[in-house]
Order: sequence, then C-alpha cells, then structure tokens
Amino acid sequence: MSFLDTLLGKKKEASVLGVDIGSSSLKVVQLRKEHGKAVLETYGELALGPYAGAVAGAATALSAEEIAASLADLLREAKVTTKSAGVSIPFARSLLVLVELPYRDDPKEQKTIIELEARKYIPVPVSEVQLDWFVVPPPAEGPGAKPSGKPEKMEVFLIAVHNDELALLQRSVAAAGLTSSFFEIEIFSTIRAVVDEPVKPVMVLDIGAATTKTYIVERGVVALSHSIAMGSHDITRAIAVSENIPLARAEALKKQEGLAAADGPAGAEHSPELVFSRIFAGARRVLMQFEQSRKEAVTKVVLTGGGGVTRELGTYAKNLFSIDVVVADPFKKCEAPVFMRPILEEIGPEFAVAVGLALRKLAEL
Ligand SMILES: Nc1ncnc2c1ncn2[C@@H]1O[C@H](COP(=O)(O)OP(=O)(O)OP(=O)(O)O)[C@@H](O)[C@H]1O
Ligand SMILES: [Mg+2]
Repeated sequence: MSFLDTLLGKKKEASVLGVDIGSSSLKVVQLRKEHGKAVLETYGELALGPYAGAVAGAATALSAEEIAASLADLLREAKVTTKSAGVSIPFARSLLVLVELPYRDDPKEQKTIIELEARKYIPVPVSEVQLDWFVVPPPAEGPGAKPSGKPEKMEVFLIAVHNDELALLQRSVAAAGLTSSFFEIEIFSTIRAVVDEPVKPVMVLDIGAATTKTYIVERGVVALSHSIAMGSHDITRAIAVSENIPLARAEALKKQEGLAAADGPAGAEHSPELVFSRIFAGARRVLMQFEQSRKEAVTKVVLTGGGGVTRELGTYAKNLFSIDVVVADPFKKCEAPVFMRPILEEIGPEFAVAVGLALRKLAEL
C-alpha cells in the first residue's frame, strides 16, 4: 500500500488463497489483486506421504485432523498471510455424468426435470449430496451441430458431491485456521488456470500420484471425463524395481532425470517411458471416444499435475499424440518478478488447481 493510499484512507486490497488438497501433496497459492491484475504473493507444496508413513510422492488417505495438521505446517512454511481461501474437491470424490434430457427452455422447468433425472444416476439418496449441473451448449456448426429451430434434447452435465466429503474438507480447512467461501471440483479449477482455447475441444491430462485424470473441454465446459488408474507414483515404483533401489531414492531420481531415469537395458521393462506410454494409451482411448461420438477433432493436449513436471515428458508426448501438446503454465496468469519466471514455468503444472482456485477467489473480491 502506498503512502498516498494510506493518506486517502484506501483499504489494502485483500489477498486470497487457493488450497489444493491432493492425494499425495498439498498445494497452496496466495494471490493479491492489484490494478485489476492477479499478483503472486507466495506458494508452497507439501508431500503428504510422510504424514501417512509412506514416501514423499505416494498417494494417501488422511483423516481431517491429519490434513489440518499438515496444512497448518504448509501455511507456516509458505508464509501464507491470509485466511480467506477457496478449496478443491478431489475428482475421485465427485460424480460427474453427462446425460441427455428432453429440452426445456424455462429455467424452473429445467431444474425440476434435472433434479428428477439425477436420482437415476446418483447411487445414494439425493438428500445426501450437493447437486449442481450445467446445460452443455450444442455445437454451433460442423457435423455435430443441432439443426436450427427448437431442439428436442439437451445435454446436461450433472455434478454431485457427497455431504460427508464436503464436511471432511470443511473440518480440515477450518481446523487449519482458514475460512473457505467455496469448494470446487478440481477439474474446474484446472480449466480456469490452464485452458485458454474458447471454442475448440482441448484434452487436459492431470497426472497425479496414483491416478491420471483426463477430460475434454469444449467451449469452456467439460464434455467428457475419465480417470486412469495410473500416475506418477507408478513411475517411481518402476524406477525402484528396475534400478533395485528404495522408493525414496527412486522418487529423487525421477525428479532429477525424468524420462531418462532407468533407461538402461535392465530398465526397459520398468522404464518411465513404458508407464507413460500406458497412461497415454488410456488418454488416447478417451480422445477417440470423444471424437467418434461428437464428430469433432481434439486440437490440443495440456499436460498438468505433478507428473506433468517430469523432464522431457512434453517432447515425448508430442511425438506420441499427433496433435499439439503443451505443458501447463498456470502462473502465466499471475504477475511475478521476472527472475522467478523460469522456476514458475517449471513447477507450474503441479499448481494448476491451486492457481485456478485462487483466481476464482480473487474474482469474488
Ligand atoms: N519434478 C518432478 N518430476 C517428476 N515427477 C514429479 C515431479 N514433481 C512431482 N512429481 C510427482 O507428481 C506426483 C504428484 O503430483 P500431484 O501433486 O499433481 O498429485 P496430487 O495432486 O497429490 O494427486 P491427485 O491429484 O491424484 O490427488 C508425485 O508422484 C510426484 O512424485
Ligand atoms: Mg492433484
């Protein structure tokens, strides 16, 4: 705050925090709004493995108390100064389905029909979940476009999160001393942070520890989502087996050398490349399913999540997919000192969810 602002009694513009509670690590990003821009104040990451008796980089399932304790540690370490947060909901704990329903114009009628239909797709009583939805706009042109006139059907994306899951998250962040004004399923936070293409379909690959989330975004909304039961910790395991070293050493080697770790002849059967090729094969199936059903081409793949930080992965993926592949750079949406740019670009994929949450929170101010 400048001296002049103080004299004029202007309030210091508030800072906000994005909190990503991942299965293997916590991530926080603190932003401040200045002259309408998002300014990066601090960020930090903490591996949860050690809090669960596992190695750093492994996926965990912690209690609210354990999450709160580790989050409090991270807030201290990262010198976070605000309490006002937006928090992620894990994709794995949410239900997302695309359903086709009879078209309704009137928002009230839409609500009634959607709530009725939702019961068919949600495996628990609707009173036990928080239900949300949006109507997917039909393609404007091309082979998938709806004929003009009043459509008969509408595609609706249903989103449900169990009340218990929200309660666990609420307890965790409150016990760490934060106040949260919203909880958002992580894929929506990522989209805000890393997808800029307004029209054409883009595939996002969020390579986490135990799973890889893959989803296709078209005109800003999710058109398809799928979870692949393999992630970056499988790379660590492969390196540990091929090099015959402990997991903790393999984790360090993976971060140092990326795809080149364990690439000797003995490592061929357990090479990082082999694991990634399986993950990408799963992603290609999702891509083809989308293209066949929508009759539209996916134009770009965005790599994100901690696994997206892997050295040389971008180049490898570019050779594998015959379309444009980019490694996510969410921090480019924030102002930061020039000398920090190289490091922010490098670690960016890991922080996509946290940046997306902080950006939404900033928009609330
Ligand atoms: N520099 C790096 N090179 C390679 N892998 C890395 C690097 N940094 C982190 N990882 C790996 O990324 C994984 C964690 O990714 P991320 O933080 O996105 O997972 P998460 O958010 O906890 O998991 P999820 O989203 O599935 O709940 C770990 O297995 C970690 O070893
Ligand atoms: Mg994650």
